[in-house]
Amino acid sequence: MNASPAVHAVVLGAAGYGGGELLRLLLGHPEVASILAVSRSHAGLPIWKAHPNLRGFSDTAFYAEAEWDALAKDDAIVVFSAQPHFELAQQLKDLEAAWSAAGISDRVTLIDLSGDFRLSDAALFQGAYGKPHPCSERLGSFVYGLPEWKAAELKGARRIANPGCFSTAVQLALLPLQGLDLGFVAVSGVTGSSGSGALPSETAHHPTRAHDFRAYKALEHQHQPEIEGLLKATNTHAELSFVPHSAPMVRGIFATVQCQMPTGMDEGILRECLHQTYQNAPFIRLVEGSPRIATVVGTNFCEIGLATQGRNAVIFAALDNLVKGMAGQAVQNMNLALELPEKAGLWAAGPFPI
Ligand SMILES: NC(=O)c1ccc[n+]([C@@H]2O[C@H](COP(=O)([O-])OP(=O)(O)OC[C@H]3O[C@@H](n4cnc5c(N)ncnc54)[C@H](OP(=O)(O)O)[C@@H]3O)[C@@H](O)[C@H]2O)c1
Repeated sequence: MNASPAVHAVVLGAAGYGGGELLRLLLGHPEVASILAVSRSHAGLPIWKAHPNLRGFSDTAFYAEAEWDALAKDDAIVVFSAQPHFELAQQLKDLEAAWSAAGISDRVTLIDLSGDFRLSDAALFQGAYGKPHPCSERLGSFVYGLPEWKAAELKGARRIANPGCFSTAVQLALLPLQGLDLGFVAVSGVTGSSGSGALPSETAHHPTRAHDFRAYKALEHQHQPEIEGLLKATNTHAELSFVPHSAPMVRGIFATVQCQMPTGMDEGILRECLHQTYQNAPFIRLVEGSPRIATVVGTNFCEIGLATQGRNAVIFAALDNLVKGMAGQAVQNMNLALELPEKAGLWAAGPFPI
């Protein structure tokens, strides 16, 4: 029997919120032999300086850059990029040249947590992110990493684009409806403040956020074309109206997807669609009525619930933006890409209450 390769993980942007969650999950992953945390702002400092929850779990420090030659002897190398949009796209050619020079290209799996490689069309990318793509010729060359949809393509994949947090929740709510003619679909998404990352900003500043609730980027959020990608690829006809909101919580995405069931469908059939779609998906929990943020925070689970009245149907999805919406999903993608057990390093309940 072949033993699984030892995994050597490199995290770029390791001092950020997503980087911290990656380090937390990778430190507990049974197949991960080493972790190299790269941070320009925290180089030389111990990991707990940026992530105090990890004090006592790692005695290493952040590196200013990865030393690829030092990884040359290793089995599987997984590079996670948890940097702002445009960063990896600007670095990709130099990174790939460095991997080639170090003789490790054939063993590197790259998982990008930003929006750089989720869309495959240059015009769509510019419309969503406001600037031209730095290496548009590479758009479409990454596997879109929504495991519940793309498990077969993720097996052995070497370039993976991790979905956005809203996109994950909304797509997981819509996936059971694939192939249907849905007409107008109203989507409301609610996010916690950690969705804005670790750097302080007006929208994430506690005094202006803690007791507020508001919509933002209504009908123009950059995740809308990403969600529409699933609709197009699955031949699902829907006119999507997506309105994101920021809520006074730190973690969590809650999506409410409202549509009319096509003729011939009723609650029983819809419930069966949900069951069929997710019967083999370990991180999807189908719940009665509304899912809850408090039961998914800190976990890689997405809870999905349902309500119907006549032809009206509502599908709810709740997840932790930093875990199933980001770092946990990236580890799930690593597991699938390297053909490790899908649950490895991720199978844990969260705290309750939070
Ligand atoms: N937060 C979420 O809920 C969420 C969910 C899904 C996807 N994402 C995406 O994941 C990526 C990381 O998000 P995050 O929330 O972890 O962000 P973050 O907390 O702001 O961390 C970003 C990291 O990237 C590094 N970095 C490299 N170049 C940078 C630059 N030019 N400006 C600022 N930082 C730079 C920074 O670290 P050093 O200076 O230390 O190198 C920092 O550690 C983003 O693309 C984000 O859109 C976020």
